[in-house]
Amino acid sequence: MNLKYKDLLGLRELSEEEIMLILDTAFVMKNVLVSGNKKTAHLQGKSVVTLFYENSTRTRLSFEMASKFMGASSANISTTGSSVNKGENLADTAMTIDAMATDIIVMRHPVSGAPHYISDKVGASVVNAGDGMNEHPTQALLDMMTIIENKKSLSGLKVAIVGDIYHSRVARSNIWGMAKLGADVYIAGPSTMIPVGIEMTGAKICSNVQEACEGADIIMALRLQTERQKSSLFPSIQEYSRFFGVDDKVLSLARNDVMVMHPGPCNHGVEMTTSVYESDASYINEQVTNGVAIRMAVLYLLNSRRNAL
Ligand code: CP
Repeated sequence: MNLKYKDLLGLRELSEEEIMLILDTAFVMKNVLVSGNKKTAHLQGKSVVTLFYENSTRTRLSFEMASKFMGASSANISTTGSSVNKGENLADTAMTIDAMATDIIVMRHPVSGAPHYISDKVGASVVNAGDGMNEHPTQALLDMMTIIENKKSLSGLKVAIVGDIYHSRVARSNIWGMAKLGADVYIAGPSTMIPVGIEMTGAKICSNVQEACEGADIIMALRLQTERQKSSLFPSIQEYSRFFGVDDKVLSLARNDVMVMHPGPCNHGVEMTTSVYESDASYINEQVTNGVAIRMAVLYLLNSRRNAL
């Protein structure tokens, strides 16, 4: 089985079978990753360019590592130090990278839909590494992989996603993906940070964090994205953390074997306390490790589809 599209732009358009194909492939890639010999030849002779218009540590580094582990030539472009700073537009930038016989472009951009906009302008496969407030598909895939690794399946699990839902592409990708794999997703956050119509996705809106986390199998806290807020959507950071942060008291409402997750980077003491972040319930470092395996799987599958044409 191959992926249907040349690009990975979001989980909204992927089938359950395609999501499972990526996850199953990632478990195989994880064996490579932890084997002590990280080199494979799956992408030998291929090139991967990461094009990032926003800051990143985890996503960019893991795509770069994944490319290198599989033998691809990889290169980076960011806004600083490139001709983007001279005013070159997105389409010209993407087509310039494509004209260098690039096979896969991994792109992060502050505008929702930016990777979709360039996808039909380039022959390369485009991977959405986060577009504005829309989707961050590889983050949700690594989240789902981490859950399945520990819970065997997402089916019937209560997943609480709490915090700044409105600005979160991580939340949107997880809601699309987890619903397809049978989880029950509950969301909670300040009312100003709950997107209008979000319940159409199947996610259930809770009136507070306690209700969302009661009996939860998974608690996923989201980063407060102050950089995307034009004006403050809550009275103060102290009040935000008091009402919407995950602390030991909130944790005690969940199941004993609850998994605490966060996409990172975390604002300690805001989205969750350091004691929760560092607790035995925290799978945040496992998420990061699985991020490399997921990105290896995505690059491998997109390249396989290209080879099959
Ligand atoms: N989770 C995530 O996207 O982290 P980075 O911004 O560090 O890539």
